[in-house]
Amino acid sequence: MERITDLLELHHDFAEVLTEIRTAVMDADLSAAAVRMAWLTRALTEHAKTEESLLFPLYEGADYPANGSPEVLRRDHALLLRHLTVDLYDTDDVALANQLALFAGALEHHDLRESRYFKPLVDARITDDNRRHILSVFAAQMDALPPRPTQDIVRSRGVFQPSGHALTDAQTALAQGDEDPRWLLAIRCDHPKAQRLQRRACQALAAGDRVGAYDTLRLLALFPRIAK
Ligand SMILES: [Fe+2]
Ligand SMILES: [Fe+2]
Repeated sequence: MERITDLLELHHDFAEVLTEIRTAVMDADLSAAAVRMAWLTRALTEHAKTEESLLFPLYEGADYPANGSPEVLRRDHALLLRHLTVDLYDTDDVALANQLALFAGALEHHDLRESRYFKPLVDARITDDNRRHILSVFAAQMDALPPRPTQDIVRSRGVFQPSGHALTDAQTALAQGDEDPRWLLAIRCDHPKAQRLQRRACQALAAGDRVGAYDTLRLLALFPRIAK
């Protein structure tokens, strides 16, 4: 890397890992998503901190536009870091997908601000010595990160799928019009989120909503942490 602007290459890594997280979540492979979220949390947190400590002082006096001010960039960072705190295992599926979509939009927006204003304006003001020093700090920071997770998401798909008969039995019973909840209760769930889905299915059945109960079971079938 020769220019501060070249640091934007790191943003591509962040965006790619976030796409992998979203893919893993859609595949209900929460462990693959969690490994990537841990990597992204560390990488993005350190990246933002170093930008604020080393690059923002150089940017303060630049001729930046109002929507590219240091204050706005700082708020972007705070927003991005907040998105990183989402609990993958304890957020409703739809809410999780929405939050990750918002996260991706915020990251893209921030990337635009940095590529259009922040990094080129810093490049125009920085001395060669300082540029070399700051680039070496970012490089050392990236080297110290654990390697990017490489587990093949597609290959891991299905590994955690429940294979027990209880789930199939309950689906069959519901499809046949059997409203006895013991079929639902026979599914052993060992994670609070799976247990909530199980309760939701039972409540739907108790309310006479067999279709709702069946749909909830379909979600449960996608959940990775169900005991066999
Ligand atoms: Fe950045
Ligand atoms: Fe940034």
